[in-house]
Amino acid sequence: MWREGPAQAAAACRGQHVDAGSAACGVDRDTRAFDGSARAFARIARSVSAENARNATVTAFRRVDGELHAEGVSLSALAERYGTPCYVYSRAALEDRFRSFSAAFDGVPHLVCYAVKANSNLAVLNILARMGSGFDIVSGGELARVIAAGGDPAKIVFSGVGKTAVEMQAALAAGIRCFNVESAAELEALDAIARGAGKIAPISLRVNPDVDPKTHPYIATGLKESKFGVAFEDALGLYRRAARLPGVAVHGIDCHIGSQITEIAACAEAAGKMFELVDRLEADGITLRHVDLGGGLGIRYHDEETIDPYAFALAVRQARGARQHELLFEPGRFLVGNAGVLLTRVLYLKPGGERSFAIVDAAMNDLLRPALYAAWHDVDAVRPRDVAARRWDIVGPVCESADFLARDRMLALGGGDLLAVRGAGAYGFAMSSNYNSRPRACEVVVAGDRTHLARPREDATDLFARESVLP
Ligand code: LLP
Repeated sequence: MWREGPAQAAAACRGQHVDAGSAACGVDRDTRAFDGSARAFARIARSVSAENARNATVTAFRRVDGELHAEGVSLSALAERYGTPCYVYSRAALEDRFRSFSAAFDGVPHLVCYAVKANSNLAVLNILARMGSGFDIVSGGELARVIAAGGDPAKIVFSGVGKTAVEMQAALAAGIRCFNVESAAELEALDAIARGAGKIAPISLRVNPDVDPKTHPYIATGLKESKFGVAFEDALGLYRRAARLPGVAVHGIDCHIGSQITEIAACAEAAGKMFELVDRLEADGITLRHVDLGGGLGIRYHDEETIDPYAFALAVRQARGARQHELLFEPGRFLVGNAGVLLTRVLYLKPGGERSFAIVDAAMNDLLRPALYAAWHDVDAVRPRDVAARRWDIVGPVCESADFLARDRMLALGGGDLLAVRGAGAYGFAMSSNYNSRPRACEVVVAGDRTHLARPREDATDLFARESVLP
C-alpha cells in the first residue's frame, strides 16, 4: 500500500499517459513478475509516483493564478453562474478513474459495474455508460435511472437485502444481467416471481466472507454479524437449492465486504476466500460464469494511504490464478469520489474564544458524511485571502449541532468567500435531503471549458409539490 497516487498505475507500468487507451498494457508481463513481496509493491509505488503529475483526477481541481478551477472553468465563475451550494463534477476525472480501474484488469474478462448509489445523477451515469460501464443497482429507482441514462440493462447487477416483488418484476422485464441474491427467502421469492413472469432469473448469491475491511463500522458489510449476504458455511446448501429451482439460473457468486477500504490485505483475503469457495462449489457440480468481488476501494480524503487499482488488480489476479471466470466489480466511491466538489459560500463569520465558526450556505442536508460518520473532507478556499489564517469550524445553517462540514481547519477567510469541499462526488448529493425545508443543491458537470447543468437547484415549490392540505 502507498499513498494514493494520482497516477494510473496500469498506464504507469507501460510508461504511457492514460489517454493513450488501455489496449496494449503490459500488465501480463508485470503480473508474472509480481510475487506479492514488499519489493514488488514498492516497484509499483515508484511507477505510480512517476505518473502523478499527469493524472486527470488530480489536475481536474487545481489552482490557476491562485484560483481553484474545475478543469478549465474557475469555481467562482461557476458560483456566479449557478449559485451555491453547488456540486461540481469533472468529466475528465470521472473518465480517468474508470479507465484506470478497468485498465488494471486488462487481459482478464471483466465488467465494471458502477455502484449507482454513490452518485446517481443521469449525467454521471451517462458518462460511464458511454465508456462501456455496467451498473450495480439497489432499487427500482436506480434501475429506472440507469435505463433513462442510456445504460445497458444487460450490464446491470441488482444488489440489496430487500428487493420488493415490484422491483424484481421490473428488473426481469428490463433483462438485467444478474440478481445478487442475499438470503434464502429472497431466492424463493425471486424464483416464484420469475416463474410467474415466464422467465428465468439469472442469479448470484452474495456470500459473506467474514473479512474485516477495517473501515468505519457503518460501512463494513462483510462481517459475520452484518445483515448482508449469506453466511459462508450456508452458501453450498443454498446453491444446491438454487440449482433445483426452475425460475432461477445460477450465473455467479458475489461479495462486498465494505466501503472506503484502504487495506489491500482485506481485499486479498476476501478474494482468496471467494475463489476457494468457487472451487468447492464447482467440485459439487455448480458451475459459475462470473465472480463479482463488489466495490469498496477507498479514496484519499485527507492523508490516507489507499490502494492503487493496479495493486488491487494484481492481488485479485493472484487469487484468481488460472481460473477462467469473468470478474465483476462494483466500485462507487473510487470512480466518483474525487471527481466532485461541493462549492459553498461563507454567509457569516463568527469568530470566538472557544471556537470560531464559518457559517456557510451548504449544510448537513447537502453533505451528510461529516455528521453521520465524522468523515473528513478537505476544504479549500477558492481564492485564499491575504489575511492571517485561523482555525475555523465550517458549519451550515441547519438547526443541529451535528451540522458541520469540517472542524478545526486553518483557513484565511473573509465573509462571502467561496469554499470547495473536496471528495464530495460520492455519497454527497446522493445522500442529500430536504431537511429544514432546504431546496437541494444544483449539480454541474464540467468538461474542459464547457459546463452542463445536470440538475438545477430546487426551489421552494419543489419542496411541497406533492403535498396537499386537508380538503
Ligand atoms: N456494492 C455493494 C453491494 C454496496 O453495498 C456498495 C456500497 C458498493 C458496491 C459500492 O461501494 P464503494 O465502492 O462506493 O465503496 N454512504 C457511505 C458509503 C456506503 C456504501 C454502501 N455500499 C459513505 O458515504 O461513506
